[in-house]
Amino acid sequence: MKASEIFSKLWDQYSRENPSAERIFNLFQNSGEKVVNDHVAFRTCNDPRVNIDVLARPFLEAGYVPAGEYYFEVKKLRARHFELPGDPESPRVFISELILEEFSQGLQDTLRKQLDEVPEELLFSPDLIHHGSLSSSLSYGVYESLREESEYAAWLYAFGFRANHFTVSVNYLTAFDKLEAVNAFLKEKGYPLNNSGGEIKGTPEQLLEQSSTLADRVEVSFSEGVKIIPGCYYEFALRYPQKDGQIFSGFIAGSADKIFESTDYR
Ligand code: NI
Repeated sequence: MKASEIFSKLWDQYSRENPSAERIFNLFQNSGEKVVNDHVAFRTCNDPRVNIDVLARPFLEAGYVPAGEYYFEVKKLRARHFELPGDPESPRVFISELILEEFSQGLQDTLRKQLDEVPEELLFSPDLIHHGSLSSSLSYGVYESLREESEYAAWLYAFGFRANHFTVSVNYLTAFDKLEAVNAFLKEKGYPLNNSGGEIKGTPEQLLEQSSTLADRVEVSFSEGVKIIPGCYYEFALRYPQKDGQIFSGFIAGSADKIFESTDYR
């Protein structure tokens, strides 16, 4: 499958389930902007059945190559990013994975048991990347107990494999040359931003500034009934040129660490 087809399926699912992302996309597009994605992010865990290598497979098959590695000590995550050489408008792919052995036996058992339910053919299918939650029946009690250890693990349990966020490249917007201006525009239109670590993560000196909406609250069916929990968010990124003139293409672990909190339950 071509990269553009993968992203279009992912966007359909993401924008359907997170209506504020679609509304923000339309705000930009209706004002004449070209919306290019800086990156699309996924979450998983390091179980060999679904680790970063597994989720990266359809992108590698579409021509993507590994481009950077990151480690998040406090959240106990590793991440890698991938790029499509020769196509700067094809989004970077950012995949993070929970380092299971650093968590309680209970958390490990819960996520591994969820994986045990997954038919093997799905694990090898290009559809895995937008399959959604891996459980046919979710327990709100389990979700709550995962949250006590890791908001990331709870999100992964409830939402599984899908785009966790798309990211608008501010570099391609013509009416906004600063991330502050994008943020002011979003707030004026009524979209609250993630304030953890300040609205803007990163600095021009770090060559990457990022901000994000708070995740839409979405209805999820649990065995205990329908609950409203944080789903996905929309991110905005402005990149700066390096000394050699090339636009910086990596990620800043300290900034991403705070961006992860856009899906925290609050
Ligand atoms: Ni991101």
